[in-house]
Formats: sequence, C-alpha cells, structure tokens
Amino acid sequence: MKVLITDKMAEEAVQVLKKAGHDVTYNEMDALTLVKEIGKYDALMIRSRTKAVKEVVEAGAKGNLKVIGRAGIGVDNVDIEIAGKHKIPVVNAPTGATASVAELTFGHILTLSRNIAYADKTMKKGEWAKKTLKGFELDGKTLGLIGTGNIGKYTAKLAKCFGMKVIGYDPFISKENMKKDSIEKVDEVAQIMEKSDYISLHIPHIPATHHIVNEEMISKMKPSAYLINCARGGTIDEKALYNALKNGKIAGAALDVYEKEPPEKSPLFELDNVVLTPHIGANTKEGQIKAGTICAEQINKVLAGKKPDYCVNRKLL
Ligand code: 3PG
Repeated sequence: MKVLITDKMAEEAVQVLKKAGHDVTYNEMDALTLVKEIGKYDALMIRSRTKAVKEVVEAGAKGNLKVIGRAGIGVDNVDIEIAGKHKIPVVNAPTGATASVAELTFGHILTLSRNIAYADKTMKKGEWAKKTLKGFELDGKTLGLIGTGNIGKYTAKLAKCFGMKVIGYDPFISKENMKKDSIEKVDEVAQIMEKSDYISLHIPHIPATHHIVNEEMISKMKPSAYLINCARGGTIDEKALYNALKNGKIAGAALDVYEKEPPEKSPLFELDNVVLTPHIGANTKEGQIKAGTICAEQINKVLAGKKPDYCVNRKLL
C-alpha cells in the first residue's frame, strides 16, 4: 500500500514500512499540496511539523486514507475527532522518546542551576564572569512534576540520582503508584508551585491544561525557583512568564516548546534568565529510531487489518 511521510523520519522506520511491502514516499509538502495529494495514499506518517487538520483528514477520507501515524507522543497536530468520524485510526508512539525528553529536561535543569548558557555566552564575548556565576546544587532540592506519566516518571528517576526530592501533580495517577516511583503526590498544582525549587511540566496541551501555569500560579513560586517546559506550548502563559522573569519574581526558566512554533520575535529572546531550545526534546538518534519504528509498526498493523497497540482515537472509531 502507499504510505506518505511528510516529516523527517529515521531510516529504520522507513525500512519497517518497506519490509511490510509498502510503497513509501517522503515529501515535506506544504499544507495545500498535502490536501491535494493525501487521497492518493493509504497512510500518512508525520511528526509535529505537519498539521493533519480537518481539511487534510477529510481530503484523505474522500480518497484512500486508512491510518494516520504520529511518530511521537503528542497528537495535538492531528484532528482526532474528524479522523474518528471517518473511522480513520490515529496511531502514535507514546514510549519512543521517554528517555530523550527526560534527559533534555535535566539538561535544562543543570543549565539553569549552573548558568551554563550564560557562562558560554560571556566567555565567547571575551569575559571571565566567574564571580557572578555562582550556581546551585541539585542535591537536597525539590523537583515538582506537573504530569507523572512515562516522561514525568523517568525524569523523577533521574532526579533521584541527583539527590532530589520529587513531588508530583497528576489527577490520573494514584498516590500508591506515584510512591512506587518515589514521587510524593500532591493534589493541587498550587502545591507544586509553592513547594518546588524546580518545576517541570510533562503534560499534553488540551483544553484542561491550557495555561495551567498562569500568572496566579507563577506568583506562588519561590523567587529562587526555576520553571522548565519540554512538554507542550500553551500549558504555560508565556506573557505571564515573561513578566515574572523580567521583574525577577522567579529565578529563571527553560523552554523547549512554545505557544506558537517557531516563536517569531518573542520578548523572551531579550532575557538572560531564560534558556530556549527549538522543540528538540525527542530529537535524538535513539528517540527518533524508537518513535519512528514503533509508529511504523502501528501503521503496518492497521494496513494489515490488525488491531494497533497505540491508537489515540480508538473510542471514536
Ligand atoms: C512528541 O510529541 O513526541 C514530541 O513533542 C516530539 O515531536 P517531534 O517528533 O515533532 O520532534
């Protein structure tokens, strides 16, 4: 069958599709071309760049489209409901990038606590800013997790190695299950904000989590605390974050994800107490191989008439 890939994908994932006998086309086409072309294909495989919006899914449904595969975790770039309405399964790879995203989170935590990005910037300007670059140890500090699914749990595991205490907010995970991962459950986001030295988000962006970290929540943070988001833009109110950083209400922040991607001309670019990366959480060799091959296997299953393991709109089909 014909599979269209419209985002950069690991070669190993392409091979999984080819070995199953599929005819694979790779073309990073724009939105309009995708609407025109999608109906010719049995499957669409994407990352977060391609937006499988209503028009794309409907055009696919009018043609041959049988499955949409997201080689990653987040499916906010796919119109799940419309796909469900047309009985098109949306499959993903929820476990592929767990280590990659958690490791980037820790990269950001360390960068913030030891001023690594600012130290690099000043060194390259010919400055020796040693006196102003006093950092903090992680040992004994509290990491607050908003979301304790696969990535949150893995982040907690890394935090333990650094001697940190971990608290977690997640309405879907019981106190007992969090305890198994050495996470102390709290019932309100506000408790995470008040008690933590480092706060890291590991949640999707859905209506219930939109601006879950807003001005009020940020105002509850310790002035010495740091906020890290390697999950999804839109979960933090960027304007409120900018104001807090600019006015020294919190110590710093690190973002890998944004309300708008790429975030053209963000006022955050002016600040030295924020570290920014361009949505690279899952962008490792290993993460891409795992996410791509898991997703390709799901596509193969659907195209072979079998039940996929990871289908996000199963209930709607
Ligand atoms: C995900 O949801 O898996 C991550 O945000 C990675 O997205 P990407 O595959 O587009 O890099």
